[in-house]
Amino acid sequence: MKGVILAGGLGSRLHPLTKITNKHLLPVYDRPMIHYPLLTLVDAGIRDILIVTGGNHAGEFLRLLGNGREFGLEDIAYTYQEGEGGIADALSLARHFADGEKIVVILGDNIIEGDIRRPVTAFREQPRGARILLKKVPDPSRFGVPEMRDGRIVSIEEKPKLAKSEYAVVGIYMYDAAVFDIISSLKPSARNELEITDVNNHDLARGELRHDLLEGWWTDAGTFESLFRASMLVRERMIEKLTARIG
Ligand code: G1P
Repeated sequence: MKGVILAGGLGSRLHPLTKITNKHLLPVYDRPMIHYPLLTLVDAGIRDILIVTGGNHAGEFLRLLGNGREFGLEDIAYTYQEGEGGIADALSLARHFADGEKIVVILGDNIIEGDIRRPVTAFREQPRGARILLKKVPDPSRFGVPEMRDGRIVSIEEKPKLAKSEYAVVGIYMYDAAVFDIISSLKPSARNELEITDVNNHDLARGELRHDLLEGWWTDAGTFESLFRASMLVRERMIEKLTARIG
């Protein structure tokens, strides 16, 4: 299974910080943001990783990560998203890299407390389709929100005014190679982007979308509030680990 980190966009919700660098290079406690999704993939045993970036500061990723030796990788693949086509548009650039294999996709600003080993193993065994992760949150309307019935997802809405559940769709998605044909068939949304939620609704309509609940905390880091919270959560996790080690 291969991994794709989506780290493009202009990060306009974080202006003026993102005038001089890419959002995913900003600090989250003691590391640049991109380190966290990279560690999440590496921790799940994924070694073949593509970073999709864009905007004005793409070259900085190479300077920071190089071939990923620090993470035990042989090399890292990079590609460039021109324009602001949305998450699914960025993902379409991974077609050649994926080369028919299953992929785990993670948004570059998604940080989790634990790991994704269990859902990744489950997806390896899943014959086809897609797998997403859900997390109960206090503010679901900021995210993709599933409508649930008897523990099953019946639809997903992107940033609904009135959320139909307390769950958010986490920015970690698992797809088989059919995802690229699904993306080709999408029409831009009202905000003129190809939405990842539309991709997931396609898999749902084909009866091929499964889900797990993510354990441990999860946060994005694309707004001032969530960026600040991400640093606090990472700091607390580090202190807990140190305390546990000291006993
Ligand atoms: C994106 C997706 C949304 C998902 C979220 C997770 O939203 O569109 O469905 O729940 O990531 O972080 P964004 O916050 O990038 O607009």
